[in-house]
Amino acid sequence: MSGRAPFSLPRVAFFGRTLAEYLQCFCLDAKELRGLRVLDCPGGPGSFAAEAAAFGCEVTAVDPAYEASTDDLERRASADIDACIAQMRAKPWSAPVGDLETYAAAKREALGRFIEDFRANPQRYRAASLPTLPFADRQFDMVLSGHLLFLYAPLAEDGFLEGHRFDLAWHHEAIGELARVCSAEMRLYPTLALNTAPRRHCYASPIEADLEARGWRCSFLPSVYAQYPPSWNDCLVARRLSAATPT
Ligand SMILES: C[S@@+](CC[C@H](N)C(=O)[O-])C[C@H]1O[C@@H](n2cnc3c(N)ncnc32)[C@H](O)[C@@H]1O
Repeated sequence: MSGRAPFSLPRVAFFGRTLAEYLQCFCLDAKELRGLRVLDCPGGPGSFAAEAAAFGCEVTAVDPAYEASTDDLERRASADIDACIAQMRAKPWSAPVGDLETYAAAKREALGRFIEDFRANPQRYRAASLPTLPFADRQFDMVLSGHLLFLYAPLAEDGFLEGHRFDLAWHHEAIGELARVCSAEMRLYPTLALNTAPRRHCYASPIEADLEARGWRCSFLPSVYAQYPPSWNDCLVARRLSAATPT
């Protein structure tokens, strides 16, 4: 780790993004998603599920926080957005490449649409927690997982979570579970180390090796999402090689 104070959090922030941000993070075009059953895990207070429904993409969003009431979710998300933005302002190297106010406004826009949709379409949202998901094997065509894996590894292991809750063993279990419920393709983002000079996260290689051993083909696609510096700003894309692949 470099000499500067690390970006750190005592727990996972309840923080979400818009469809436009998701498409950038995961290197996707909305046209590719039409007609697909997609798992968004974790969904957070994001508007991807709500917005994607408009073009015929059926998203199920999963997050342990969804067991709370809508009012609690709104309060918690607003507080977490403010706390994360304050920390980014205090540690400018951790702030998005673009304008911080525009970045914050997108989080509030996502939250507003999420709250509306959570009330109107509760069937899209399931309370559950990795590494155990309440779904059948290969229930989804595509699985997206943003801003939990890699990012919330322990501080000493390229992440920014205090404590050791999401260590490498947990990552293997969690990604194995995402693979179980996915029939074709998973996309995981981001995959870089946050608190060091830009480089790939130290879990990326063991996770890639594990997925390849389970019969998945992995590649890293450069993302254009401007929260992180361009080098190592990659999305891990894993494709199931054959229908016979066990997990
Ligand atoms: C920073 S948000 C990311 C949300 C969204 N995917 C995005 O990219 O903006 C991380 C989310 O992970 C959720 N979370 C925490 N522990 C989890 C677990 N064990 N399994 C699934 N989600 C979890 C939190 O509640 C939080 O909403």
